[in-house]
Amino acid sequence: MPRKPVPPQDRLIVALDLPDHAQARDLVERLGETVTFYKIGLELFMAGDYFALIDWLTAQGKKVFADLKFYDIPMTVERAVRALSCTPVTFATVHGDPAIMAAAARGKGAKLKILAVTVLTSLDEAALKAMGYASDLETLVRRRARQAVDAGLDGVIASGREAQLLRRELGNDPLIVTPGVRPQGSPAGDQKRVVTVEEAFANGADYIVVGRPIRDAHDPKAAAAAIQRQIAERFQN
Ligand code: C5P
Repeated sequence: MPRKPVPPQDRLIVALDLPDHAQARDLVERLGETVTFYKIGLELFMAGDYFALIDWLTAQGKKVFADLKFYDIPMTVERAVRALSCTPVTFATVHGDPAIMAAAARGKGAKLKILAVTVLTSLDEAALKAMGYASDLETLVRRRARQAVDAGLDGVIASGREAQLLRRELGNDPLIVTPGVRPQGSPAGDQKRVVTVEEAFANGADYIVVGRPIRDAHDPKAAAAAIQRQIAERFQN
């Protein structure tokens, strides 16, 4: 399968799941040149000065994934995405509702890439049923991924186990960004459907999102460097 022209180092996105800016900046500084791409979500949003943190990260030469998972009426999502498109953010997320995805596509402009959350990984078949969905989880994931592409979005967030199925369904172009990655031997924590770094890329992921295995490592920089070595081996040439 042809590879996208992504610098191998950028394929590791580190989730800055931390309660305040000081701790976030500290981790970024500790990781130094080893990590080029960071995901900042709702926790840091609630810490305030979210956009100052985005500016600080980009001033360090880092790329930013704003994981705010927009879900609202289409006009509100379109306007929020349009506002985000005026910032230096590279990736952002919306929920995989067709009208919301179409609205995000209208608002995103040329540079910002929008990824759809097909079905939250915290939901299982029973939860979907309780919400009134008739289709099974896999069917819903496939349908929403197809709708994301048809709506003009850039790709999806998908577990490493869904990545293979979605790659077959969607072809090579859409981005697949995979959280729930655990280097061999790392604890899964609350993630249910984990894959290793190697499996994620073999299954068709373009990027991986890694949080706790780096944040909680005794030596975060060494943990990130070990992942970067695996990525470099896979994507060299
Ligand atoms: O610590 P861990 O590596 O499990 O962190 C994964 C990150 O990816 C977290 O920031 C989590 O919110 C995010 N995420 C996820 N599953 C999704 C979407 C986002 O784990 N479906």
